[in-house]
Amino acid sequence: MSSEKVAIVTGANKGETAIESLQELGYNPAYHQLDVEDQASVDEFQKYIAKNYGGVDVLVNNAGVKGKGSFGMQATASVGVNYFGTLRMSEAFLPLLRHNANVVNVSSSLGHLAKIPSEELRKKFADPDLTISRLSDLMNEFVRAATEDHNPEKNWGTLPYTVSKVDLNDYRGILTVEEGAVAPLYAALNQDGWKGQFVWRDCTLVDWFGPELPAPY
Ligand SMILES: NC(=O)c1ccc[n+]([C@@H]2O[C@H](COP(=O)([O-])OP(=O)(O)OC[C@H]3O[C@@H](n4cnc5c(N)ncnc54)[C@H](OP(=O)(O)O)[C@@H]3O)[C@@H](O)[C@H]2O)c1
Repeated sequence: MSSEKVAIVTGANKGETAIESLQELGYNPAYHQLDVEDQASVDEFQKYIAKNYGGVDVLVNNAGVKGKGSFGMQATASVGVNYFGTLRMSEAFLPLLRHNANVVNVSSSLGHLAKIPSEELRKKFADPDLTISRLSDLMNEFVRAATEDHNPEKNWGTLPYTVSKVDLNDYRGILTVEEGAVAPLYAALNQDGWKGQFVWRDCTLVDWFGPELPAPY
């Protein structure tokens, strides 16, 4: 059983290369197979962490997809990984979180509430009494609308991964890897008791409910 700090970062299939780099820096990284869409895979990984490390200090839900194909296909893929995958990981690892642990969900500027055109939907997302069950219903409703409705963009916006919180930018982000890692790392190490905060890339807190997006993108 390790007494060292334990951090999990999902969606690092370039992990084997990262492991070598981190080892050269004197860290002790490990790599484990994980499919956040597969409950059995998440459960198996959770058991592995529980048995070998006993607890978790940092969980970074980084795994994400933009989705390909039609609006409906993108909605299905992005909600499946970005929302339900993150939820599955969070629920599985909640019992293993140690005192002062941090959970960081890697989002996007397109994950800001103002990107949803429908005021009625924005109100539902912003409802302080929103439960996980009702949020999951909303996500399923989005996938249904994206697949079946004539003009889902009118209410939900033009980018399915906005609803799922993701912008992969065709894998061409505007930040370097080092720049993109700054805010997730800052949030992961933060001990100010942040909870449910939307952290901008310069590490400032942004009002997720507000009408204004931080500029520039
Ligand atoms: N790039 C951008 O412009 C940008 C901007 C804002 C936010 N972000 C966020 O940054 C995070 C990382 O994105 P990235 O730009 O680094 O893209 P990336 O290189 O494609 O990384 C995404 C990772 O998620 C993994 N993944 C996908 N589905 C998975 C699943 N079901 N289970 C486990 N892992 C899965 C991918 O593995 P496979 O390749 O094996 O599928 C990949 O390693 C995402 O959450 C994204 O929303 C990116």
